[in-house]
Amino acid sequence: YRMVDLIQKKRDGGSFNQSEIDWMIENYVAGSVPDYQMSALAMAIYFKGMNTSEISNLTMAMVHSGKEFDLSDISGIKVDKHSTGGVGDKVTLILAPLVASFGVPVAKMSGRGLGHTGGTLDKLESIPGFNIEKTEAGFIEQVKDIGIAVIGQSDELVKADKLLYALRDVTATVDIIPLIASSVMSKKIAAGSDAILLDVTVGDGAFMKSVEDARILARTMVDLGKSVGRETVAVITNMSQPLGYAIGNRNEITEAVNTLNGKGTAEFRQFIAELAQIMLELAGDKKTIPEILQNLDNGLAYAKFVAMIKAQGGDPTAFENLTAPLKTKYKVEIRAPKTGFITDEKALGVGVLAMKLGAGRATKADTIDFEAGILLAKKVGDKVSNNDLIATLYSNREISEELISEFNDSIVISDEQVHQKEILEIVR
Ligand code: URA
Repeated sequence: YRMVDLIQKKRDGGSFNQSEIDWMIENYVAGSVPDYQMSALAMAIYFKGMNTSEISNLTMAMVHSGKEFDLSDISGIKVDKHSTGGVGDKVTLILAPLVASFGVPVAKMSGRGLGHTGGTLDKLESIPGFNIEKTEAGFIEQVKDIGIAVIGQSDELVKADKLLYALRDVTATVDIIPLIASSVMSKKIAAGSDAILLDVTVGDGAFMKSVEDARILARTMVDLGKSVGRETVAVITNMSQPLGYAIGNRNEITEAVNTLNGKGTAEFRQFIAELAQIMLELAGDKKTIPEILQNLDNGLAYAKFVAMIKAQGGDPTAFENLTAPLKTKYKVEIRAPKTGFITDEKALGVGVLAMKLGAGRATKADTIDFEAGILLAKKVGDKVSNNDLIATLYSNREISEELISEFNDSIVISDEQVHQKEILEIVR
């Protein structure tokens, strides 16, 4: 084949067969298809889409671009989890130890932040000493020993996704359903778990802006998983406002630790428990919500978290610091300009601001300031009186008036009270 002909084929609305897709992915990973041709192809896919068999062939070609982990040495049904990205999304930090506390092995690979969305790996690295790298053997050993490991995506797995993802990030080709579906599912399939829970975020702060699109993405991924024998369930969740109260890195660890210690808000606990219920069910373990909540209150989920931190080199003497308030050079309190109800707290604006405060990267080479971030005091649906605290911004860079007004633009206060649900739909 010639890449230029394949780009033209898609541009003109054609569909690829398996051999064409295999050729493109193999040659892209080998370096003989250059980035500029791959990015032209990604843009053509944005406009022309892909049919079900193209998506499935692309996913499997990506799986075969690297190694596949074999977790069969770990007994029990291994359940993995993946979110399509969000702001303040610390779900894995709580859900993984919670599920593991019921004896279900959790062998998870997580990613770094992308654009305005945060990454579990970055958050974990805000714990001094914590090591996100493990060999396949070390990963398996840890899950056998303590029932849980959350590590970085191994360089050996799904090589095509590493390359494509970085390329898509800078060519406006991230939010494309066939490319997200193949990116997520190739990683989940290669990582070797038996069952998968997908958190498909929707709204202002997510890549899917409408529930209709989120539904298509969810259905596509669930069908992909099932077609290769992995039981897969997708939950469509609200990302129009940030998840929980903390947005950043170390402060999200704090919120996770507090929630693991029974101190989460009722809504957040319920949300996490409902996700845990699905993961446990996928592992063949039916539990009620009150039974699940118990493990957040009796220390069992927290104990799993601590065991994981220790097993991955985290400094146990640093544990107290994990729940201390953020320490930064600059701190700005945002107060309500009037009395009313919070009706919107735009996740995209808040996520971009957190990134500008130092909590995320603008380019791949940027380093993250783990102490930077935002702590919300109010969420959508809350009543506020004039001058009430809405949020505190933390940064080691000076916080300009412009940034403060960017935050204010993300907050809407009006007279009518609205309520937002976290879980919108479940796709099986
Ligand atoms: N998360 C992924 O892993 N891949 C995407 O393409 C988008 C979100």
